[in-house]
Amino acid sequence: MDLIGLKTLGAERFAALLALCERLDTSSAPAGGRGAPSEAGSLQGAAVALLFCEPSTRTRVSFELAAARLGMHAVRVSPEESSSQKGESLVATCRNLEAMGFEALVIRHQVCAAPHEVAERVQIPVINAGNGNDEHPTQALIDCVTLRRAFGRRGEEMAGKKVAIIGDIAHSRVARSDVWALGYLGCEVILAGPPGLMPAGDELGPDSAWRAGHVRGAASRDEALQDADAVIMLRVQQERLEKASGQQYHPETYLRDWGIDADVQRGAMKPGAFILHPGPVIHGMELSEALADGPQSLILEQVSHAVAVRQAVYLACLGAAQGF
Ligand code: CP
Repeated sequence: MDLIGLKTLGAERFAALLALCERLDTSSAPAGGRGAPSEAGSLQGAAVALLFCEPSTRTRVSFELAAARLGMHAVRVSPEESSSQKGESLVATCRNLEAMGFEALVIRHQVCAAPHEVAERVQIPVINAGNGNDEHPTQALIDCVTLRRAFGRRGEEMAGKKVAIIGDIAHSRVARSDVWALGYLGCEVILAGPPGLMPAGDELGPDSAWRAGHVRGAASRDEALQDADAVIMLRVQQERLEKASGQQYHPETYLRDWGIDADVQRGAMKPGAFILHPGPVIHGMELSEALADGPQSLILEQVSHAVAVRQAVYLACLGAAQGF
């Protein structure tokens, strides 16, 4: 099976995949444990190619470590060192990797259509590690594992929780996957960001997550935070903005208007509300460093679930787990 996006995965398969992630995840605290145990060695020796055409720390490294934990071979194919430098297309590269015997492809690409185009031309599973501003399904799985664990420690369910997502929604594939994932879990999602960083146009159409019934916009950070049980803060993707409009956001004014520091937490957030961020965090912009490392932050706990989630995705996509 391919894993390109959560919208097309649907609620039922999402629930099964989340359950597998949680079964494999043995870490229960920030920085806890060594990640998940191997699932019966069923993927021992399987080869996966990791094509990361955009920078990544958390996603790439955790896909590599997850493969190692399952006894797989993970081979990085970076655009700087591959024949894409000589003009070979991504699809052609992937077809060659399939012919070589790779059993799955993990792709991060700046173009939304990239993993879809590859999946149409190869028979092996394609796993989306982030495509443009479209989807980042494994990050949303991490966010859901993290939130379910955190609410579970208080004896609370996810259904009915309000989760704010604040920041650069327009360029965020994490937001687009999170809105589907959180919707499948019965959460209400509240989106807020500077006017230029909110989605527009077709994205607000009838087929979009924003119209799926569980998503609403807020006019300001404080409005988004006032009822939220958790907030997912997003980085301003300056690299995409510079290409599109050249607009710059300055850390101090952004933190004042759209970020969270101790004053905002005291004045605008519900007591006990959790703070998440997919990373990388720009301290002093979307979050003060004290808040990012504070007791309500789940940011490192998110990272602690990354390897188990990617193990589960390998197992599901390569046919080594039942129910997919
Ligand atoms: N969360 C996330 O995708 O981080 P990286 O860009 O470092 O992989």
